[in-house]
Amino acid sequence: MLNKIKKIQAREVLDSRGNPTLKVEVVLDNKIKATASVPSGASTGEFEALEMRDGDIKRYNGKGVLKACENVNKKINKILKGETVTNQKKIDKIMLDLDGTESKSNLGANAILGVSLACARAGAIATNKPLYKYIATSYKLQATSYKLPTPMFNILNGGKHADSGLAIQEFMIAPIGIKTMKEKIRAGSEIFHSLKKILLNRGYSTGIGDEGGFAPKLESHTEAFDLILGAIKKAGYQAGKEIFLAIDAAANSFFIPEDNKYILKPENISLDYNRLIALYMEWIKKYPLISIEDGLNENNWDDWEEMMKKLKSENLRMMIVADDLTVTNVTRLKKATENKCANAIIIKLNQIGTLTETMECVKMAQEAGWKIIVSHRSGETCDDFIADLAVAVGADFLKAGSLSRGERLAKYNRLMEIEKEKLSHC
Ligand code: PGA
Ligand code: ZN
Repeated sequence: MLNKIKKIQAREVLDSRGNPTLKVEVVLDNKIKATASVPSGASTGEFEALEMRDGDIKRYNGKGVLKACENVNKKINKILKGETVTNQKKIDKIMLDLDGTESKSNLGANAILGVSLACARAGAIATNKPLYKYIATSYKLQATSYKLPTPMFNILNGGKHADSGLAIQEFMIAPIGIKTMKEKIRAGSEIFHSLKKILLNRGYSTGIGDEGGFAPKLESHTEAFDLILGAIKKAGYQAGKEIFLAIDAAANSFFIPEDNKYILKPENISLDYNRLIALYMEWIKKYPLISIEDGLNENNWDDWEEMMKKLKSENLRMMIVADDLTVTNVTRLKKATENKCANAIIIKLNQIGTLTETMECVKMAQEAGWKIIVSHRSGETCDDFIADLAVAVGADFLKAGSLSRGERLAKYNRLMEIEKEKLSHC
């Protein structure tokens, strides 16, 4: 079998927020077929690759992706027809050359990514390998043990993902001290449900936000931490031993550029970067917090550097995670590693737009000794590609939302499946 690409087709489907996105199907000459769907962010970084939207206000409020689908169905289909699907790097390069722009604004990063991922899936099927193994072998990674990532469960939602009124976007729990994936996920689920009971008892809403975490209208950020600690205890787990806390501030969304200040709601306080860092340090000392993502604005490189230095001077060992700062882009990552702005990175396929560029970014981050967190987007589909990606690169963590909403659980269920598959091979 030659595994040549016969046809690539994209169509519009809806994501978890009910907005259009692309689902791409690749068909090979030997009848093998594979699909992939593209996620979409809400708190997107300014420097992400371009997500092509139609802008026709009469359809889906301008969010249609028919142009991006057409780019797949015509231009990309034509140029990739006859290529061997297992030449993933070549396939991605052909699309990059065809697009010819830094931001992928000709074809759309969403169009390119859908094809890139569907080809990887088809390649895995064609070579009879699980996707994580196929990715690792295609990029010659040495992930011989295929380490499973620890999930970061986002059980309380704020920022642009919910109307809870909390400035901080994500409150996550990471079951680092629990051994197997099955038990890590069980712990997450039990804590999620005990948090629900606590919220109900206190008369709070138990409605959920975009990533499946609760979104109650709380009085302060410390109340959010205290509620989560209560939930961990009520579920019978030990905070600081089995379960640790992590936040994604997504600080761009409460940064006021004109004043160079951050407005923290619901407390309604205005903080310069120094005072915001001091507040983070207070939380680090008080709570079993292991990770702060996008604690500061994406353009304020010096402030990031300063935060790293301050933590070091107080001997606070933490993950300082770059997401919007680095946007899975090697140029930005290089600057961040050279200036020691962070020590961990969020990896999101659609921030950059091809599997190959994503792998290059992971490699550079790993070489710099940074921790790797593979991540979903707030707008998702039931596609579970990122679970395999996280295992392929030996990621330290996988961020895929809470313990509710099918598009979040698809990723966690896939991790349990991989664990079972790995165990049965031992
Ligand atoms: P987004 O949020 O997908 O809305 O950008 C996720 C994140 O900031 O990590
Ligand atoms: Zn983030």
